[in-house]
Amino acid sequence: MDIILFGPPGAGKGTQGVLLAERFHLQRLSTGDLLRDAVRRGTPLGQEARRYMDAGELVPDEVILGLVREYLQAGGEQGVIFDGFPRTEAQARALDQLLAGLGRRIGAVLVLEVPDETLVRRISGRRSCPACGAVYNVHVDPPAVPGRCDRCGAGLVGRADDDEATVRRRLAVYQAQTAPLLDYYEAVAGTPVRRVPGDRAVEEVQRALVDLLAPQVPDHA
Ligand code: AP5
Repeated sequence: MDIILFGPPGAGKGTQGVLLAERFHLQRLSTGDLLRDAVRRGTPLGQEARRYMDAGELVPDEVILGLVREYLQAGGEQGVIFDGFPRTEAQARALDQLLAGLGRRIGAVLVLEVPDETLVRRISGRRSCPACGAVYNVHVDPPAVPGRCDRCGAGLVGRADDDEATVRRRLAVYQAQTAPLLDYYEAVAGTPVRRVPGDRAVEEVQRALVDLLAPQVPDHA
């Protein structure tokens, strides 16, 4: 089963994607995480991507598709939760082709719906651990010791693209370039699109997603 976790910046795709991958024994592919890793390592791809990310714009399709192709070719039989990908119709069509080549298809698009003002507030509170990847929110899920990771003790950091002006640009880009993809899935690809209110506690959102997926993923825990 391959699934797309869809929604605007800060909707909780990363938070829910990690939990769902664990629960259903799926891999999770976050193109944002892959890009941030390339930026941290200072690779040529990372240097190119950084300009777009810092401005809140989409990284060009061919860069993203190169990363995803490499990931799927190296991966196994396990299904994938796609987090933050695809974001354009060209990416969606390319993903359909890549999966078809592996005898697979997207089983469902799960959309997390959250009002813009909640998203801006959430993102302003996000802090993550550069050492182990744990994500916190100083408003709703703060670490026990301010500024320190509960799991490994490293200093927490904010994301370069999480300032309010860039977040508002990312939201506008989502509405203009990514949200229309839902029409593609519903009307053209015939893929089930399921909308879930994401403006609730993490555990409640998780329960709603698990209820949607459980009948479709045979060997979940
Ligand atoms: P990416 O990393 O994908 O960012 P995004 O889509 O903007 O999403 P976020 O990571 O900001 O949010 P999220 O939905 O994962 O929320 P999270 O769980 O962290 O992309 C970054 C950039 O990379 C893009 O702008 C673009 O430049 C580039 N890029 C990436 N993919 C691309 C592609 N395919 N094509 C082109 N360019 C691409 O939660 C956010 C915060 O809220 C956290 O602090 C969390 O703790 C908290 N939180 C989560 N759930 C809840 C809840 N239910 N209640 C309260 N707080 C919550």
